[in-house]
Amino acid sequence: MERRNFIALVGTSLVAVPVWANLNPTKMPVQRAIDSVFPELPYSYNALEPTIDAKTMEIHYTKHYKAYHTNFLADIKDTPAAEMDLKDLFAGISKQPIAVRNNGGGYYNHLLFWENMTPTKTNPSAVLNSALEKSFGSMEKFKEEFANAAKKQFGSGWAWLVADKEGKVFVSATPNQDNPLMDVVEKKGTPLLCIDVWEHAYYLHYQNRRAEYVDNFWNVVNWDTVNKRYANR
Ligand SMILES: [Fe+2]
Repeated sequence: MERRNFIALVGTSLVAVPVWANLNPTKMPVQRAIDSVFPELPYSYNALEPTIDAKTMEIHYTKHYKAYHTNFLADIKDTPAAEMDLKDLFAGISKQPIAVRNNGGGYYNHLLFWENMTPTKTNPSAVLNSALEKSFGSMEKFKEEFANAAKKQFGSGWAWLVADKEGKVFVSATPNQDNPLMDVVEKKGTPLLCIDVWEHAYYLHYQNRRAEYVDNFWNVVNWDTVNKRYANR
């Protein structure tokens, strides 16, 4: 699957653009456009097996994610939100209808999630590693804290690795489709890595064993993406 089909990165608005027209990785991950054409996943549905099985990926992507994409487009159509970049939209999300918060978050969080996974082995950069060690003491301690946040999130939500304005990294968790860019969350910053802990992300294969899904997640983390997000925060 060609990468250019996945998603456009632009810095101005949510209007639909050709996905290959505005690729600008230096702006990721906070400034995005939503393309009216539903993008393709940048890897095959079975690419992350055995960590995430093909059926789960296919249903998650083509049903759940597609619904967020479709609904978000409909929610913002012909409203001022359609002309805002996502960073600004999320920074004032408390003033938006709840549907925009849920579907906009659902669209954006999943986009980050698909991109921060890969079937290929990758590693944290020296710079990111140093930031992780400074905040958590070691990579292992970071993984422990991130995994705990994911396992303990009550009900549906997400766990995050986030960077603040000074580059300090921290872990957080959000309910539903909230994310660290939103003014409604307590711990705000630039998202670097996320894991979806809604049951739809793991239940087919892991059933109630969320902890096992979270522990296996490290097998598919795309550190190249996380490194880039940290460098471009
Ligand atoms: Fe999901």
